[in-house]
Amino acid sequence: MTSTSTLPGEAPPASAASGTYTLTSRLARGGAFRDGQLTTRYGAVRLGALTPGAEAALRALGEDDHDEAAIGALIVAHDGETGLLRWHILRSRLEAAGLVEHAVAGPDGAAVARLVTVGRGATTLKPAPRGPVRLSRHALLSPAEGTLALRAPGSPLAVELGAGATALLPLLTTWTREAPAPLVRLLATAGALAPGGPDADPQAEERGSVQWHPLDLAFHARTRVPASAPGYGGTYRHRERFGPEPVAAPAADGPRVALPVPDLEAIAARDLSLTEAIEQRTSTRAHDPEHPLTLAQLAELLYRTVRIRGTFTGSDGQELADRPLPSGGAVHELEVYPLVTRCEGLEPGLYRYAPDRHELERVGAPGPATATLVKEARGGTMMDGDPQVVLLVAARFGRVMWKYETVAYPLILKHVGVLYQTVYLVATAMGLAVCGLGGGDTSAFAAATGRDPLLEGTVGELVIGSRPAGPAATDTDTAAATAAATGAAAAPAAERATEPAAADF
Ligand SMILES: Cc1cc2nc3c(=O)[nH]c(=O)nc-3n(C[C@H](O)[C@H](O)[C@H](O)COP(=O)(O)O)c2cc1C
Repeated sequence: MTSTSTLPGEAPPASAASGTYTLTSRLARGGAFRDGQLTTRYGAVRLGALTPGAEAALRALGEDDHDEAAIGALIVAHDGETGLLRWHILRSRLEAAGLVEHAVAGPDGAAVARLVTVGRGATTLKPAPRGPVRLSRHALLSPAEGTLALRAPGSPLAVELGAGATALLPLLTTWTREAPAPLVRLLATAGALAPGGPDADPQAEERGSVQWHPLDLAFHARTRVPASAPGYGGTYRHRERFGPEPVAAPAADGPRVALPVPDLEAIAARDLSLTEAIEQRTSTRAHDPEHPLTLAQLAELLYRTVRIRGTFTGSDGQELADRPLPSGGAVHELEVYPLVTRCEGLEPGLYRYAPDRHELERVGAPGPATATLVKEARGGTMMDGDPQVVLLVAARFGRVMWKYETVAYPLILKHVGVLYQTVYLVATAMGLAVCGLGGGDTSAFAAATGRDPLLEGTVGELVIGSRPAGPAATDTDTAAATAAATGAAAAPAAERATEPAAADF
C-alpha cells in the first residue's frame, strides 16, 4: 500500500492540476533490503551497522512507495527524534548513488509520475523553480514498458508518466504556474524543464539551443554522454535471440558479372604518391560522355577500396573482415551497390559488389526506383547529365547492432566517412571524377532492391565517372554553370571559392 500525506510548503495546485499531489520514495527498481544488505540492479551493498529505525525504513522502501512523513514516523517510533538526522544522511547517500526512486502520487493515491535512473546519476530531488515552468523543447516522450517515459538529452534520469499525468502534460507545453509542485520537482530533477521563464527564454532565443533538433540532440547525447545511457561498447544485448550475421552477405541467385583483378604491383609502380593524391583530390561533378567509365576501372576502384582481403573470427564468435578501409571492431557492415547508367562493358542497372568474391551481382534492371535514385544523385550534385555511376553505400545494420549498443549507429556514419575518403583518394589516383553526396533516399533503395530497410539501408552515396579532359568541373565550375543556367551573374572566382558548393554542399 502506498502511504501518502501532503508535503508542507508546496503550493496548492489549481484548475487542471487540482487535487493533492504527494511526493513518495522507494528503493530504486529492483532494489531490496534484507539482512543488512541492499540488493540493487548494480549489485549488493552491505550498509554496515544500522539503527532499528533505518532498518525498518529501508525494508519499507524496498517494498513500496512511502512519503516522507510515513518514513519519518517509522524512524521516530524505533529510534526517537534523534534518529531522523542519521536517517537523512543515509538517505542522501543512497540518493547520490541513484538507489532511491521518487514518485508523485495523485489525489487518488496512484502514481502519476516516477523518476527513474536510465543511466548513471543521482536521484537527489531539485527544488521546484519559483516562477512559471515549461517542458524543455528538447524533451522527448516515448512509450516504455507500459508507461510513457519523458527524457531530456544527456540526463541519466527519466520521468515515467502514469495515466494521471496525461491531463497535466498539456499544461506544461507553455509557461505555467499551475502544474503540481511535486511533479515539477521530478521534471526539474530529470532536466526536462526549460531554463529561464517567459521573459528570458534561452531555449527559444540562444543559438546553442535553437540550432539543435531534439532528435539530433538526443542522438548526440546518447552516444557522447555515456552517463546518460548505459551500453557503450559491445554489450551484445540481443545475443540470446539472434545470432551474428556473416561478414559477407549471402550470394544472390541472379546473374553475376566477373570483374578483372587489378595488378596492385603494376598500379603501385605508376600510382600517384599519397601526398599527390591528397593534394589533387577534389569533388568533380561532370563526367566525360565521350569516354565513359569502364568496367575495368569500376573493378579497380572497388577492389582497391572495399574488397574483403581476408576474414577471421572474433572472440565473441562474430566473423570479422580485413578490408583496405578500417572499421570499428573490424565488423565491416558496409556494402556498395553500383547504380550504373553508363559504364563501358556493363549493362545499365543496379548491382551489388560482392566484396568477398570481387564480382558484381545484378540486382535489377533500370526501373522507376533506380530512376529516382539517379535523379536524386544528379539533383544533389547539380550535374548537367545523369552521373555515370552512383555508388550507393548501404549498411547491414545487424552486423554492428548485434554487438554494439549506443555507439552502433554513430559507428556506421563514421564508417561512411572513412569509405568516402578512401574512394575519393583512390578515384583521384585513378584520374576519375568523384563527388560524395550528403543525403539519399533509403526508401527508393528499398524499392529498387526489395531489401528490408530495417535490416539494410543506404547511409551514403558517391557519384563517380570518367573525368572530363581539361579543367575539371569542380564546385566553382558548377556554381558558374548554375549561375549561367539561372541567368544569375557568376560570382568572381575569389568569391566563389568560399561559397557553398552545389546543392548547398
Ligand atoms: C559527406 C559529404 C557530403 C557531400 N555532399 C555533397 C552533395 O550532396 N552534393 C555535392 O554537390 N557535393 C557534396 N559533397 C562535396 C563537397 O561539396 C565538397 O567536398 C566541398 O565543396 C569541398 O570541395 P572539394 O571536395 O573539391 O575539396 C559532399 C562531400 C562530403 C564529404
